[in-house]
Amino acid sequence: MPKVYFVGCGPGDPELITIKAKKLLQKADVVVYSGSLIPQEIIKLCKKARLYDAAKMVREEIFTVLRNGALQEKLVVRLHDGDPSIYGAIREQTDNLKKEKIDYEVVPGITSFLASAAALGCELTLPGVTQTIIVTRAESRTKVPTREKISELAKHRATMVFYLSVHLVSDIVKQAIKGGYPKSTPVAAVYRASWKDEKIITGTLVDITKKIRDAKITKTTIIIIGDIVNPKHYEYSRLYDKTFSHGYRKAQTISQR
Ligand SMILES: C[S@@+](CC[C@H](N)C(=O)[O-])C[C@H]1O[C@@H](n2cnc3c(N)ncnc32)[C@H](O)[C@@H]1O
Repeated sequence: MPKVYFVGCGPGDPELITIKAKKLLQKADVVVYSGSLIPQEIIKLCKKARLYDAAKMVREEIFTVLRNGALQEKLVVRLHDGDPSIYGAIREQTDNLKKEKIDYEVVPGITSFLASAAALGCELTLPGVTQTIIVTRAESRTKVPTREKISELAKHRATMVFYLSVHLVSDIVKQAIKGGYPKSTPVAAVYRASWKDEKIITGTLVDITKKIRDAKITKTTIIIIGDIVNPKHYEYSRLYDKTFSHGYRKAQTISQR
């Protein structure tokens, strides 16, 4: 059965691609890649592929390239930055492929919010602070359902991660405060996480807008709001507590310590 691979190549650092993704790119005959967010080192892995820059194409053109390649029994890759399932617009393509009886497989990649957390060296789900991550975006030309208004999501005071929104940071801040985050809540903005020109800006809901503006950052940034960015206090994990038993380890008695 003809097939198309939707492949994530990670956040930017060429060493953060999976072995599976690398092998597919090396063997691919056709690669449609997501423009500027994919580093040249990764494009160079496509040794024999015919390359198409998706940034210059519309949905129908991309689909035609994917379909024709698959029907000609070629190894076809639709290459995404980060992970294909996050703001990757893959469903519209996979559904159309299914209609034409073309199979597909998704190969995951490291998404940019995880590369951003790594750059910050932080734990997104910190015991005693939050056990929840909300991944969202501010509304711009793409509508966000009303029930997902930032001020509503902010009521949870969980870790909030924003894609595609750095140019709307002042709105995010207003909504976050309206929803219930104290103004002193820490915020981090990571520009081009894992790239050589990565920049990290940290602050609070009070000053992050100015800091981002002063740094002239307008795109390719993840914003993370929450106490986990700079926790004042947290709890140790239960899992590694010596008094805690689980399937692989019994609690230690005093004499074992
Ligand atoms: C269309 S979305 C694609 C997201 C991608 N599929 C992923 O999993 O990271 C593009 C947005 O992802 C974020 N982004 C992508 N790469 C990034 C990076 N290396 N550092 C920070 N943000 C990044 C930015 O918010 C950017 O506006």
